Amino acid sequence: MPIRHLPETLINQIAAGEVIERPAAAVKELVENAIDAGSSRVDVSIRDGGLGLITVADDGMGMTEKDLAIAVERHATSKLPDDDLVHINALGFRGEALPSIGAVSRLTITSRPRREDGSLADAAAITVDAGKKSSPAPAALPKGTRVEVRDLFYATPARLKFMKTPRTETQNVRDVVERLAMAYPDVHFTLTVDDKQTLDLPAATGDLYDRRLSRLRQIMGRDFAENALRLDAARDDVRLTGYASLPTLNRGTSQHQYFYVNGRPVRDRQLIGAVRGAYADFLASSRHPMLCLFIDLPPAQVDVNVHPAKAEVRFSDAAQVRGLLVGGLRHAIAQAGHRASTTVADQTLQAFQSPENAEQNPSWDGQYRQYAPPYRNMKGMAGAAYTGAVYAAPQEAQTAPLSGLESLPGARTHVHEVKADPVQLAYPLGAACAQLHETYIVAQTADGLVLVDQHAAHERLVYERMKTALSNGGIARQPLLIPEVVEMDEASAERLLTRSGELAELGLVIEAFGPGAVAVQETPALLGHGNIRQMVLDLADDISNYGQTMSLKEKLEEVCSTMACHGSVRAGRRLTAEEMNALLRQMEQTPHSGQCNHGRPTYVELKLNDIEKLFGRR
Ligand SMILES: Nc1ncnc2c1ncn2[C@@H]1O[C@H](COP(=O)(O)OP(=O)(O)OP(=O)(O)O)[C@@H](O)[C@H]1O
Ligand SMILES: [Mg+2]
Repeated sequence: MPIRHLPETLINQIAAGEVIERPAAAVKELVENAIDAGSSRVDVSIRDGGLGLITVADDGMGMTEKDLAIAVERHATSKLPDDDLVHINALGFRGEALPSIGAVSRLTITSRPRREDGSLADAAAITVDAGKKSSPAPAALPKGTRVEVRDLFYATPARLKFMKTPRTETQNVRDVVERLAMAYPDVHFTLTVDDKQTLDLPAATGDLYDRRLSRLRQIMGRDFAENALRLDAARDDVRLTGYASLPTLNRGTSQHQYFYVNGRPVRDRQLIGAVRGAYADFLASSRHPMLCLFIDLPPAQVDVNVHPAKAEVRFSDAAQVRGLLVGGLRHAIAQAGHRASTTVADQTLQAFQSPENAEQNPSWDGQYRQYAPPYRNMKGMAGAAYTGAVYAAPQEAQTAPLSGLESLPGARTHVHEVKADPVQLAYPLGAACAQLHETYIVAQTADGLVLVDQHAAHERLVYERMKTALSNGGIARQPLLIPEVVEMDEASAERLLTRSGELAELGLVIEAFGPGAVAVQETPALLGHGNIRQMVLDLADDISNYGQTMSLKEKLEEVCSTMACHGSVRAGRRLTAEEMNALLRQMEQTPHSGQCNHGRPTYVELKLNDIEKLFGRR
């Protein structure tokens, strides 16, 4: 067979295969063009998941009749005026999108450009049908540009076969529009699906942060907007801005994480990895924060020409960007101090609100069960999904009808009451008033009440102190008068002993004690007298879980949280008023104390307002 040059139409269809994978990709290209054209309003409309019809209308700068004819040619762009691929300032730069779409559909572009003096010139239109181009002709249009794509992929039936249901494609289109809208809060976006408007995002007002946050509120929701930490960090020429959720507002997937590089939406494993690193201390590995991050840097420091759909980028200094992200996020989380997200209180209120739910709840069998806090087994918890309910208080318990109370012989209904110290009332977490079930501290604040899980809170305090001690030169140890011998299987003992040097640095000194046992000589001083045996066994399990290659210091969180767990005030211990107030005061001063090591809240705050609503007083 002779080698030959392919016809233009075929070349465009092949290119379209990469650039326009599905309807959402066409929408993305067209909306990006509208943004590049300086539009303040972009209206997107689709039919049949975008396969029947896509229209994108904008009020941007428009194109002249002459430009229209060139715009649909391959490799024709107005966005690289200096033939410079290094300094790309627009979302488009390849001149591929329109010819690719035109090669596989029936494309009509109508445009009415603005003259230099600001007045409007005449409108013109051009059509491309499966790659066959018409000449531009006069048309009518009030302003801007309107692109109409009919019968996408009709010219490439092979591709058409791979389309998902219109519903899935519609969802993808919505995602694309939302993703772009998040980065351009000054632009009014609408989306109409099968003649029904499903999205209306008016231009936001205020300063850049306000505008962004109000756009994010519309798309990511109120919970996010109310529980997002504002980010602003810079390293050399690279700037990080945006919003990230408090660790207590988390999700089961990383889908709610949006990244933009110079205003361009990107998906990047490294960036997701950096976020994971930043939150590792506060969230179980199966949980993910919600966030929207904008990275801005000089165009020369990022290559945007590495992916057919322009969805990935390559940084010239990836480590710098990662460092900025991890540092910026950690700093913001630390600044949040003991703040836990309001969603926790909302969920609590919801759970309280309707006692009749208890009857409808099929798992409620009328019996009160003893819900021990799940901290007994930290390893089990680390992987467990936190469903968002206030931990350790399952739905049944929260909604239990009051009348059930008399029949609770096994429950620790004892209320340990103390007098609220008026001096303590002024503090954010208030004055301790009572201890319930020997597990929860009830405190009164100036404008509400706070419920603290004493074990979770103390565990976090111990953990933070261990980390600080470690970075200040090591954890103080306290010798045991009589070494505690802990028996276990030989392999576990062996594993522990090979890491004994590292454990000693962390405050735990162990020695061999025959096969299958170790003797504990010293323990971290700030743990007090916890359950040493269980802690050592748990540590042995931890070590076997993360293998021999990782240094214990690298896995500090796990080691410390295992130790912290065993050294913390147990649930079930009666506390004095002083102890309770001391715990509250320490929580206020300790960074990250609003959540335990796995992103579950350590306390819930209910405002008087909300409580009054519960009782219909408002
Ligand atoms: N909505 C629009 N308003 C004004 N001009 C437009 C619009 N859409 C396209 N154009 C013009 O048509 C040209 C070609 O568009 P096309 O999307 O094919 O390529 P591009 O945006 O330059 O690069 P890329 O292929 O990376 O998107 C653009 O460079 C721009 O000048
Ligand atoms: Mg383009």
